[in-house]
Amino acid sequence: MRVYVVEDYDRLSKKAAQIVASQIRLNPSSVLGLATGSTPLGMYKELIKMHKEEELDFSEIKTFNLDEYYMLNKDNPQSYHSYMYENLFKHVNINRKKIYIPNGMNENIEEECLRYEREIEKAGGIDLQILGIGRNGHIGFNEPDLKFEALTHLVQLDDDTINANSRFFQDLDDVPTKAISMGIKTIMHSRKILLLANGKEKAVAIKNTLTGEIKPEVPASILQLHPDIVVIVDKETAQSLNIDRNCNKLV
Ligand code: PGA
Repeated sequence: MRVYVVEDYDRLSKKAAQIVASQIRLNPSSVLGLATGSTPLGMYKELIKMHKEEELDFSEIKTFNLDEYYMLNKDNPQSYHSYMYENLFKHVNINRKKIYIPNGMNENIEEECLRYEREIEKAGGIDLQILGIGRNGHIGFNEPDLKFEALTHLVQLDDDTINANSRFFQDLDDVPTKAISMGIKTIMHSRKILLLANGKEKAVAIKNTLTGEIKPEVPASILQLHPDIVVIVDKETAQSLNIDRNCNKLV
């Protein structure tokens, strides 16, 4: 595991975008696992800039999103379909046929979850998975639990997650309480992982993730076992980590 502590959100976004861009340049038909939420917004802006100014080519890229709300129409501005189109897809030359996001409107949830897993498998697996982290240590929508949920599944969202997400909705009652999410095994099967966190409200989750016991109550703690993971955090998130200042690696 390599941990980078950067000055601020701007640096975090630039560094993350450089890593994603390198992946795309090295393998133009890479399979990317994408995240939503506030954290990757700056990274997506940088990637759009690289597309416009440096001809970063998305035409052969395949993407799989981590999650989508259950029973929220794709066209709803708060759906993750809308988020991805607004914040990345409509600004770059991605092939719409190569975009995969769970369909939260499929009433047959089991079928939808299996279909999603099969599509990932058919694509040859995910080369680089981008992750944010919840204040409660969730990745994707894998909430703290008594066991690690393996594959894509329907999740009952935690109150903490619903509260955190309510900032995007007019009313707390409008926030979906369920979502479809890749499971921990789906995420852990990615060849590389890039975990991003900024702000002091993520400090405890990151400390528990990187230095705590590996347990399903802190879903992200399983990432300690991944063989190829890069973590980028800003100074505020890193405040309680023991960091070697010279090499930026966790010690
Ligand atoms: P955020 O969400 O980027 O909006 O903080 C991250 C997450 O909940 O996984």
